[in-house]
Parts: sequence; structure tokens; C-alpha cells
Amino acid sequence: MNFKLLIACCGFLCGACVVAPATAQTDSPGKGLKDYYKNYFPIGVAVSPGSLKRPDASALILREFNSITPENAMKMGPIHPKENEYYWKDADSIVAFAQRNGLKVRGHNLCWHEQTPDWLFKNADGKLVDKETLLKRLKDHITTVVNRYKGKIYAWDVVNEAIDDDSTKFLRNSLWYQICGEDFIIKAFEYAHAADPKAVLFYNDYNTERPEKRDRVYRLLKKLNDAGVPVDAVGLQAHWSIYEPTQGELKAAIEKFASLGLKIQVTELDMSVYPWEKNMRTKKPGENDTYTPELQAKQMAQYKMVFDVFRQYKKVITGVTFWNISDRETWLDDYPVPGRKNYPLLFDTNLQRKKAYWEVVRGDF
Ligand code: XIL
Repeated sequence: MNFKLLIACCGFLCGACVVAPATAQTDSPGKGLKDYYKNYFPIGVAVSPGSLKRPDASALILREFNSITPENAMKMGPIHPKENEYYWKDADSIVAFAQRNGLKVRGHNLCWHEQTPDWLFKNADGKLVDKETLLKRLKDHITTVVNRYKGKIYAWDVVNEAIDDDSTKFLRNSLWYQICGEDFIIKAFEYAHAADPKAVLFYNDYNTERPEKRDRVYRLLKKLNDAGVPVDAVGLQAHWSIYEPTQGELKAAIEKFASLGLKIQVTELDMSVYPWEKNMRTKKPGENDTYTPELQAKQMAQYKMVFDVFRQYKKVITGVTFWNISDRETWLDDYPVPGRKNYPLLFDTNLQRKKAYWEVVRGDF
């Protein structure tokens, strides 16, 4: 108990002072997640160019985080809208913000089946391109983007979400796969490595703690590893909820991936207050989306559990990134149920620290 602070507070040993959590009393107001975790790993956040221009959001970013990931600006659709035309403005502004403020940048992403540009898979006649053409386009894209940010982006999500959602299948039947087979994965890593041999290259996916998905991701990574493909690390997206994963599932996944000698990052962390629903549906009339004290308590416990585990595995975990800044604006407000409010982050709709925040920074450091 810090008596000096207690006396500074009210001069008496009043109930409010005595029950206030020790952390809240001894923390300096300017201290953020990145400072609590300085002996563990960088703490990042996904950003849009707009959020960096808003004074309240950018102040919060600089207080709490030391790494950023562009939420959409570097995906192939937005950054490479036409075959011979790149759109750099948004991505450049994010990298410039990071450079001005000494933040790390994770690049996201180089090859994905979603948010692809219209021209990518088609010839001028509208027919699907052949494998050779598609791999050449992939090479040009990766080489150009990785080169532009060489030395400024330390890690890239090279291939995103290549495993099928159907647990009885292996690779996702995307156009990438239909046209190139699994070579698109191998080549994407080779092109990225050739463009920037120093960048840390990631395979990134979701639901990596569910045993059936974990084992298929492992199978892919082992195959790539055995073949000498330059994959350095695996990204656990961590779009989790108050219902999953369990502590056992999380540890088992980390241990399994680490057994391949790969580093691990948590790349897109959020903690939905709803159970996962696979299919998009519309919000039912009157459907309740209030953040009740029960949901809050469950979320606090789940956030505490996962960060306790992250700290235990600090030898292999090299970064933890949140997907969005605060509950004011999260992609989960519209996904998978359009219009349903979610509360998945550590800062509330007024950008204030939630109770779950203190569960993450208190504990056995
Ligand atoms: C999401 C963004 O947050 C949304 O703004 C966008 O509309 C769709 O993509 N997995 C990923 C991320 O790898 O790129 C996705 O980001 C969330 C799921």
C-alpha cells in the first residue's frame, strides 16, 4: 500500500482510498499497455488513416501502443486497384505516422482471397488467367509493395487465411488455389523474402486454437518448413470471444506451433461479447446488444486469462496486436450481424480504459 499517495489523495484513510486497486494508485497517467509490457513484447493496434488524424484517437495510440498495423490500407484491393496503378496515399500516411512517432509497423497483407482487386484473376477478355500469369502478377505486387516499405515495415502477413473453413478439407478453394494449387503460398513467401530478406514473414489465420483448425494450420506450416520455404512465424488472428478459446486450447496451439521453431504473434486480437456465428444474419427486431455487467465480468476474466498465458510464453510470442482501437469503432459492430453493437476492446466508446484493461496490466509481471 502506498501511504504517501493515500495521504495525498484525501488526508484520511477513507474507504475509497483503501479499496482502490493498488495499480490504479501507483500508475502514472501517461503509462500505457506498451510500458507495462516492455519486458515482454510490443503491443500493437490496427489503424485507419482517418483514426490517426483524430486527436483523441491518435493520443490514445501514442500513449498505449508501440506498433501499428494498417487495418485495410495495404490489402491488395485498396493498394493495387488496377494492374498498372497503385494507390499509396493511405498506406504511406500510416507508415509516415509510425516513422514520426517511433512505432513499429506490421504489414497486412500480401496475399488473401478477400479484398482482391477486380482485375487480378482475369484477362482482358474476362476469362480467368492461367497459373503463370497469376504468379507473375503476385510477384510484381509483392515485390513492389515490400520494396516500397523496406526498412520501415519489420514484419509481413504474407499469406492470410489459406485453410478451408470445412474441417474435412485442407486448403481453401479460392481462385488463388484453383489457378495455382498450393504453389501460390510457396511463391508468395519466396517473393516476399527476395524483396526484403530482413522482414519477418508470417502465415496468418483465425480459429487457430480450435483443434481441428490448429492441426490443419500445423500441417501446412510443417510442409512449408520441411520444404525450406522462408516462413518465420505464425499469426494467431485471435478474433476470440468471452466463450472461447479455453486456456488449454490456447496453450496447446502455442506449443504446437512453437514446436516447429516458429515465432508467434497475436495479430488481430478482439474479444467479442457474443458467441461466434458463422453465417451473416440480420439483427432481429428488439435483439438486445447492451454491454451488461455479466458480459463485462466474463470479458475481464477472459482478457486476464489470455494475457496471463501470453506472458508465460514470452519466449515465443513476439507481439500482440489489437484489431481496432476502442469500442467506439470496431469491425465487429457490423460483422457477422450488421448493425449489432459489440464491445470487444480494452477502451470504451469514450476511449476510456475499461475494467478489463486493468486485468491485463495487473498480475504477475
Ligand atoms: C477486416 C477489417 O477490419 C474490416 O474493416 C474490413 O471491412 C474487412 O476486413 N481477418 C483479417 C483482417 O485478416 O484483414 C480482417 O479485417 C478481419 C479478419
